Amino acid sequence: MSYDVLRIRRDFPILEQEVNKRKLVYFDSGATAQKPLSVIERTDELMRHYNANIHRGVHHLSGVMTEMYEEARERVRTFIGAEHREEVIFTAGATASINLVAYSWSEKFLHEGDNIVVSEMEHHSNIVPWQLACERKGAELRVLPFDENGALRMEMLDTLIDERTKLVAVTEASNTLGTCPDLSYIVAMAHAVGAVVMVDGCQGIVHGGGRVRERGYDFYAFSGHKLYGPTGIGVLYGRKELLEVMPPFMGGGDMVDKVTFAKTTYAPLPLKYEAGTSNFIGAVGLAKAIEYIEGIGMEAIEAHEKKILHAMTERLSKIEGLRIYGTTENKCPIVSFTIEGTHPYDVGMILDKLGIAIRTGHHCAEPVMTHFGITGMCRASIGMYNTLEEVELLAQGIERAVRMLK
Ligand code: ALA
Repeated sequence: MSYDVLRIRRDFPILEQEVNKRKLVYFDSGATAQKPLSVIERTDELMRHYNANIHRGVHHLSGVMTEMYEEARERVRTFIGAEHREEVIFTAGATASINLVAYSWSEKFLHEGDNIVVSEMEHHSNIVPWQLACERKGAELRVLPFDENGALRMEMLDTLIDERTKLVAVTEASNTLGTCPDLSYIVAMAHAVGAVVMVDGCQGIVHGGGRVRERGYDFYAFSGHKLYGPTGIGVLYGRKELLEVMPPFMGGGDMVDKVTFAKTTYAPLPLKYEAGTSNFIGAVGLAKAIEYIEGIGMEAIEAHEKKILHAMTERLSKIEGLRIYGTTENKCPIVSFTIEGTHPYDVGMILDKLGIAIRTGHHCAEPVMTHFGITGMCRASIGMYNTLEEVELLAQGIERAVRMLK
């Protein structure tokens, strides 16, 4: 069956609206993806008819909501390819997931004199939690650099990973460069010295990422809102053997077994890491988003997005003075660029006046900007609903911005 992008667009009501009297062109799905009607209607229905706290009541609604929440966990488990339901922890988002690991795993496994390796192209949320952990524990943070094309310099991994390396934190797909590093190599190198691997799947999960068990990831994090689901819900996958021995991250309701003033014992996985009232509406909404994606097929979505990516790369490359950052072959559908003699913010503002949404700035990846000696970039990120016509509108918008700014 061919990919009917116009039919898919009809599932996303937000795309019908006008911005500044122009039809909205949304190229900011890397920041947050738009929501299909099925997700909007499902979350609306949950709040209207099923709202009740989970794991807590004997009453009907609480039971129904608990069941839906646990079904959502199962849906996530199969989607990411985890073996056990206990390995799927619902969090507030990828940042919360990574911070959970950086705190709880480090408490148990990181010691003075150890080191953690991160890549130079990480989002701040896969850098700062590890810096904090290293400061707390007296460990060293090491950085794997990337080259001018935006490929990680794998040949340097040998010099960075040693017997004191305890964890490697790396992205599945860079949110600025689009690079999808060869994680099989990184996982093999890390495991060879007994280190674990934390994969930031925020951008990757939307473009064929996951398969966590098959690929040997020890921890994996992503946010629901980039996967066409609600905001405020995210997932942490962790290998059961690790999650079982790590201490809890937050204390509170739902994560306990027995509480006395002398001693508290904890609930079994996964609840041990789900203190407080979880975002159960978000979790069920996320499951609905996964159902929507699976209904279209991840491979079909990926193929479509690649087509848009190639067209965009080719068309934007023709614009004089425009430089694209991240030119690796197998990149995810993100095009970051600057234009000689213009400021990214000004370009973004003019595009906005034309109804075109892109992201500008450092994209929470300042080390990437530092690498290129710039303060910011424009970024057009592609979702399943973008079209070739929109690529042309973007290109014409940029050309207009250049004429106005130069
Ligand atoms: N991390 C998100 C982005 O890359 C917000 O835009």
